Amino acid sequence: MKSIASAPAKIILFGEHFVVHGTKAILAAIDKRVTVTTTFTENKTIKINSELGTIEVPISSSHEEVKNEFRPFVYLANKIINSDQNVSGLEITIDSDIPIGVGLGSSSACCVAAVASICGLFKELSSEEILKMSIEAEKTIFPDTSGADCTVCTYGGMIEYEQFTGTKKIDNTFDLNLLIANSMIPHNTKNSVEKVNKFKENDEERFSQLCDLETKLIDEVITAMKNNDATTFGLKMSENQKYLEEIQVSNDTLRGMISSLKEISLGTKITGAGDGGCIIALVKDENMDKVPALLPKDKECFSAKIDTKGVVWSTIEE
Ligand code: MEV
Repeated sequence: MKSIASAPAKIILFGEHFVVHGTKAILAAIDKRVTVTTTFTENKTIKINSELGTIEVPISSSHEEVKNEFRPFVYLANKIINSDQNVSGLEITIDSDIPIGVGLGSSSACCVAAVASICGLFKELSSEEILKMSIEAEKTIFPDTSGADCTVCTYGGMIEYEQFTGTKKIDNTFDLNLLIANSMIPHNTKNSVEKVNKFKENDEERFSQLCDLETKLIDEVITAMKNNDATTFGLKMSENQKYLEEIQVSNDTLRGMISSLKEISLGTKITGAGDGGCIIALVKDENMDKVPALLPKDKECFSAKIDTKGVVWSTIEE
């Protein structure tokens, strides 16, 4: 039997970093996906194939013994194997069209799809169960995760997320024409989150003010969406960028890209951890074709559609 699951990439529209410290964030799943396929083997191993390489380790191996990128899969495979003595091995294959390490949620989407795929060999899980286990798996590489990324990769669509109080689906009334531009500078979310922790330790008072400002901004964004007000939505994106600049997760390359798109966008900001990765811009339809000429040649850009499906899975008898 083969179990196949896929999960979407994500963007953070508002509230990255502050969400780790308990404020709200707004996220959307987008139309890029990772697919994870799992099969039983007789090899007494866990074999993982991905574009980052292949590893094969004995089934009792700890996830801490393997490279970071393979940890969630080994963690999940062991968890499942330990709960079913009849399983003698698993082969897990990852195929992805989500760029890695650029803030589009590649690792969260992998964790979500891996849970659904591996568990799908045994029983059907609810979305809530998939989410819970995928956050556990993500914590093997990023212990401080807010859980926001796995949540939107699981449910799809657009969500308002708050770590300690839960998730609300947002009915997206206006058509968001979002452009994603990749700085091509890889980043490390864990390091950026630690940097923000230091900022907070050094200036608790200002950090707390910024959290309050972010909360107010997100409430205003929710109202703007209800009023179909793309202009305010865009202005709030640029205002959010100022807070991200202040907590120092931006750099000259990202600032340069943001300023190149200023004239043709309603709002532009970093999406995700920053320090590299991607920016997003709310661009009017008629200006979309002007984008490539405005960005440096070595940057990739594409327009994103909101994914409404979230994680999907199925099994095939062979
Ligand atoms: C990373 O995509 C988003 C951060 O807010 C971290 C998190 O929410 O876990 C930087």
